Amino acid sequence: MRKCVGILTAGGDSPGLNAAIRAVGKVLSRANARLIGFKDGFEGIAFDRFVELDDEMLSGILTVGGTILRTSRHKPNKMPVGKKIVDMTEAIVENYHKHQLAALICIGGGGTHKSALLLKKAGLNIVTIPKTIDNDLSGSNGTIGFDTALNVATDAIDSLHSTASSHKRIMLVEVMGHKTGWLTLGSGIAGGADVILIPEIPYSLEKVAEALKLRSREGKFFSIVPVAEGAVDVATAEKIAKIQQTLDKTDDKKRKAELKAELAELTSYKPERIFELAKKLEELTKLETRVTILGYLQRGGTPSCFDRMLATRLGVRAAEAVLNREFGFMTSYANGEISLVPIEEVAGKRKELSADHPWVKCAEASGVSFGA
Ligand code: F6P
Repeated sequence: MRKCVGILTAGGDSPGLNAAIRAVGKVLSRANARLIGFKDGFEGIAFDRFVELDDEMLSGILTVGGTILRTSRHKPNKMPVGKKIVDMTEAIVENYHKHQLAALICIGGGGTHKSALLLKKAGLNIVTIPKTIDNDLSGSNGTIGFDTALNVATDAIDSLHSTASSHKRIMLVEVMGHKTGWLTLGSGIAGGADVILIPEIPYSLEKVAEALKLRSREGKFFSIVPVAEGAVDVATAEKIAKIQQTLDKTDDKKRKAELKAELAELTSYKPERIFELAKKLEELTKLETRVTILGYLQRGGTPSCFDRMLATRLGVRAAEAVLNREFGFMTSYANGEISLVPIEEVAGKRKELSADHPWVKCAEASGVSFGA
């Protein structure tokens, strides 16, 4: 009987996912193994919704954004079924064995790696591939989709320059990245931004305003300000830290739930935040200010050359890992090399952008203000 391998994509989509699926399929096909794709993330394997990924299915998808398997953020142990949230881990294990899978390849980011670890602990042979436009996954320098998103955000900043200059405006541009500033800082440096606001460096409104007024006094009549969706001011950052400290010390269930709700209120994404920031900056600087939210444009479109290469290399290595029976690993990219990292070292760990990271130092040295 031909060896059969399962694959799924989970979490937010990102350009390059199809390139990775294709690469896995190519290697397995050459080894006379079958590849089946589960649809809609972990939901597909829980409810046994799958498609045979033969050569015909995999043809022509290298350059296509999104994922032919579709995706969802649903977790194996917390899956919405009708109006209930159900632990579907057992059903996943059953379907895995029903198909006599040699392994399950999960392509995803932070949430996917937690789920992958759970399935590994449930006894399945798991190999993962890192993807996220946020670049916040531990254990790999490169994640599929980040480079494409970086290009989209940089192109947008480039376009904003001319209109900002024509109208002598401050342009706030909201960039994705969840709780990290990789995408914002990268596109800010590449796009020649003047002030960059990222979650890792809480800002003071007054200092941001001061940096903008200084530019104006120096005869620079416009400013470009990329703002990470997770950026916070100093006071909010202090509140978050305080709640987190109390939460870490609390055992009381009710109090824990209250604190988590408070935390979610402060940290969950709210589009109105950037408009409030614009209003306050306009008041403080007396300079006309506009907002652009890049949103899902950053996750769409054709993958960049780098992402196609990265996805292909990671996909090839993932398929080889399965054929070599190297299970429980994520394929990782660092310093130009592809290697394997234990899933335990990745799951639940965020790749933070430290305040003394070379990108931060480089931006500071070239005159960028972080409003700190
Ligand atoms: O993780 C990728 C990401 O695009 C983040 O940058 C953003 O915060 C989030 O997903 C948006 O998620 P959703 O697709 O669920 O709206």
